[in-house]
Amino acid sequence: MKRPQAQVAILQAADAQEDRRIDEVAEEAGLVPEAATRAAFELEADGLVTVSEETLEHYDLTEEGERYVRESLPEQDLYEAALDAGADESPVGMGEVIGASGLEGGAVDIALSNFARKGYGQIDSGEITADPDAAPGRDPEMHALEAVADGRAEDADADALDQLERRGLLDINEETVRSVRLTDDGVTALMEGVEVAETVDQLTPELLTSGEWEDVEFTEYNVEADAEDVPHGREHILRQTANRVKDTLVGMGFQEMEGPHVDAQFWINDCLFMPQDHPARTHWDQFALERPDEIHDLPEDLVERVRSAHKNGVGPDGEGYHSPWEESVARGLDLRGHTTSLSMRYLSGHEIGELEPPQRFFSVEKVYRNDTLDPTHLLEFFQIEGWVMAEDLSVRDLMGTFTEFYEQFGITDLEFKPHYNPYTEPSFELFGTHPETGEVVEVGNSGIFRDEVLSPLGVDCDVMAWGLSLERLLMLMYGFEDIRDVHGTLCDLELLRETEVMH
Ligand code: PHE
Repeated sequence: MKRPQAQVAILQAADAQEDRRIDEVAEEAGLVPEAATRAAFELEADGLVTVSEETLEHYDLTEEGERYVRESLPEQDLYEAALDAGADESPVGMGEVIGASGLEGGAVDIALSNFARKGYGQIDSGEITADPDAAPGRDPEMHALEAVADGRAEDADADALDQLERRGLLDINEETVRSVRLTDDGVTALMEGVEVAETVDQLTPELLTSGEWEDVEFTEYNVEADAEDVPHGREHILRQTANRVKDTLVGMGFQEMEGPHVDAQFWINDCLFMPQDHPARTHWDQFALERPDEIHDLPEDLVERVRSAHKNGVGPDGEGYHSPWEESVARGLDLRGHTTSLSMRYLSGHEIGELEPPQRFFSVEKVYRNDTLDPTHLLEFFQIEGWVMAEDLSVRDLMGTFTEFYEQFGITDLEFKPHYNPYTEPSFELFGTHPETGEVVEVGNSGIFRDEVLSPLGVDCDVMAWGLSLERLLMLMYGFEDIRDVHGTLCDLELLRETEVMH
């Protein structure tokens, strides 16, 4: 008869009189254990061998167990010290005996509890009495420890082994061992002769056209074989969280804004009442574009109102900056350093027409800043921009909105700190606590837009607004400590694969 090579090896190694361990047969035949086991089961299915199974126990001393074998059990030390102190005659203060025993830290408790359990003596009202007849030298647990250490676990007392395991001195591990034995049919087959059949593991066009496929033996699929773990693509956790943020804001009644990543300084800075010669204007060190170097279309009437706000302020008592304001600067193009440029576009009516209060808008989009790279800063990040336009808004509304928003992400310990922005008054920075480091981390910036911003835009009610960092939110949610682990060229793929996304 013809059989696959592994089966032939098992058949030839098997015996009709005694069981042979499959792992040993596999080693002799140069087979991987899984292939040998599979072949044995295939032979068993054809009645040529029987497969039996046995569970073997392995005993391994823990580090602590090994130490006690080299030295002694803590309760033995305590007993020795108690005898030396005369505790077999009359009770001796516990402190004295422990001091003399040399036991320290956790070993003291271990010694005391086992001393009492084993009847080496009594411990009562802070005094120790030793039983002169106790024989710690014959301690069954010590004997069992020594037996295991010598590889003679079978000599050890079963109760003592259990006790050692309970004390964490011994690990008992189970191993399933399978063995084969030849059946009568197996013996007959061997006598008649068994040959190795060629097996084919791939069906080729040649096998098909030649018709040979009909005669060859195909390798069986081993559906239990360990397969290589091929990590599949999945949506980045930052993207998933961005989507969750969007859903949350839509759930809170917000509409989404869209707009250019490269925008005119006009929308990024000038509309926000940031003077052209003010350091605030460059405090993000924004990335400027060389080509094209300016935007073509700006709404002329709005440009004029913004220019006038910068020059003269707004309202009868308004004060401007009294500094130069050039339209050419306003036309300059930058990678946006915040998405407040989108808020300006929408509030001005430039994007979807004039808006009547109440209105709520948001975006979750990338912004770019020439920051120094560190664990909390990259050159780009996702900003959660948002604003609410309504008749009467106060700081309470702002705080309430944040509390409601962050609660949905499990963040309930927000803190607010007064802040300065050229475009909002009052302004607040938001902070949360990092779950791993306990550090207070800035998560966003917010405020109520000043008249100098709103009036040129033609908005005559209140608008509260904010820019929050999606990455910082992620850090608080998942405990990431370095933003560079999450995105950018240095990201930790393993970490990203393993992080369970919260929903
Ligand atoms: N633009 C601010 C920033 O990027 C955030 C902000 C937006 C603050 C709107 C107040 C109002 O930090």
